[in-house]
Amino acid sequence: MHITVEQGDITKVQTDVICLGIFHGVQRPGGAAGAVDRALDGVLSEVLADGDFSCKKGEIFWLRTHGKIGAKRVLLVGLGPSDKFSPDVVREISAAAARAAKALSELTTITHGAGIGGLDPQTAAQATVEGTLLGLYRFEKFKKPEEPLKLERLRIIEHSAEKLEQLKIGAQRGQIIAESVCFARDLANEPGQSLPPRELARRAQELAHELELRCEVFDEKALEKLGMGGILAVGKGSDEPPRLIVLEYNLTKDSTPIVLVGKGITFDSGGISIKPREGMEAMKYDMSGAAAVLGAMRAIALLKLPVSVVGLIAAAENLPSGKALKPGDVIRISNGKTVEVTNTDAEGRLVLSDALVYAQRYNPQAVIDLATLTGACTIALGKEAAGLFSNDETLAQKIQKAAQQTGERVWPLPLYNEYKELIKSEIADIKNSTNKGPQAGAAVGAIFLREFVTYPWAHLDIAGVAYDVESRLYHTKGATGYGVRLLTQLLQDWS
Ligand code: BES
Ligand code: MN
Ligand code: ZN
Repeated sequence: MHITVEQGDITKVQTDVICLGIFHGVQRPGGAAGAVDRALDGVLSEVLADGDFSCKKGEIFWLRTHGKIGAKRVLLVGLGPSDKFSPDVVREISAAAARAAKALSELTTITHGAGIGGLDPQTAAQATVEGTLLGLYRFEKFKKPEEPLKLERLRIIEHSAEKLEQLKIGAQRGQIIAESVCFARDLANEPGQSLPPRELARRAQELAHELELRCEVFDEKALEKLGMGGILAVGKGSDEPPRLIVLEYNLTKDSTPIVLVGKGITFDSGGISIKPREGMEAMKYDMSGAAAVLGAMRAIALLKLPVSVVGLIAAAENLPSGKALKPGDVIRISNGKTVEVTNTDAEGRLVLSDALVYAQRYNPQAVIDLATLTGACTIALGKEAAGLFSNDETLAQKIQKAAQQTGERVWPLPLYNEYKELIKSEIADIKNSTNKGPQAGAAVGAIFLREFVTYPWAHLDIAGVAYDVESRLYHTKGATGYGVRLLTQLLQDWS
């Protein structure tokens, strides 16, 4: 998408369509919409007064302009009630507008929410661009779209010269971030068949090459040398070997980076503790944590953020076979701890534990892992928030702030020491799942991970939020790319 920010008069600009947002309950539009209303002899006011258009969030209304203004059409989009307005509403309504205009080649818009008393111009422009690009996203690798997407140009028009620079910065940021989210969505939507651990590693290397990041991939032999019994055990059942992928951005000899860790199970059948057949196809998205880490690394590098960041991805395919890990087996994680595997479907924590141990060697300021770890987290929070577990209040607060800014919600859940009782093993240091029935499933996963951290750490359980979230207008079916925007915001505001 070609995106420009231009100074101009919204009534004069020559274009297929101009998009205007209107709050619920407004009778006489002001600002840019007011100017257009006057140029069109009050037709907007008339539409509003007659109740033809009620300005619900994302509602669409088309008008023809008969040559009275430069634009051929006006696309009205409802902003919903003004007291519920936020950057996330801008993303949603921008997505709705872009989808409505997708058969045209060019969409011209004002920056939604940048008017008097609204959002700051940069935030508004960023949200407008993010919503537009996220709303137009489709996964097209295996199916050509039924309705072609013609829209290839977004023009943002601004009257006042003072706001122009801020709008340009916001629009550029928005484009980098949204394209990184789409990059992550593509990875998570791709079937396990064409994206096994080796291929995920190859994609990471390709990305690293484009962005000039350092990238290292550890194969089975290297994992063996590192003693990474967790990653190796989970990968054993598959013909596709596991990998640990390391990406480094802006690292120097004495930097204390922020380390991002992603669960990269390219397909999770459950292994010998096999999952029921219904819905198993969705388990291709069990590498959404890895996708978020790659997407965030992409955004951070393109934005040239002044932070040091390491991305670690623990990639494996969890399948049953004659070579597979079995319930009852005892394995050794790279910090020496032994784990009795009582359920091979609790594999995420096994691969992550090795990656969390590896993170130590960077002397990290903080480590954040993202993982589609438990169905229990979805039971607890549904699809509206990731579970947030942390051993560091300052880090948790930073993440909560970034979540508020991006609309990628998190909700704090506890790491009570008592939960450790649930993973006590008779024959090993710990076991990977409890036999005490379904209680605190998400917290038990987090408590297991805590056994392998020695630094400020946060764990985000993204099982619910990573896929098929229908509540946001800028989502489409399938992967959401959750985490890319959150992590990028967090690192942008880091110091
Ligand atoms: N990848 C799953 C968790 C999951 C389930 C993610 C549904 C997204 C949607 C994970 O590996 C898993 O199987 N977890 C088990 C843990 C249990 C065996 C302790 C679960 O949630 O049932
Ligand atoms: Mn599993
Ligand atoms: Zn899994």
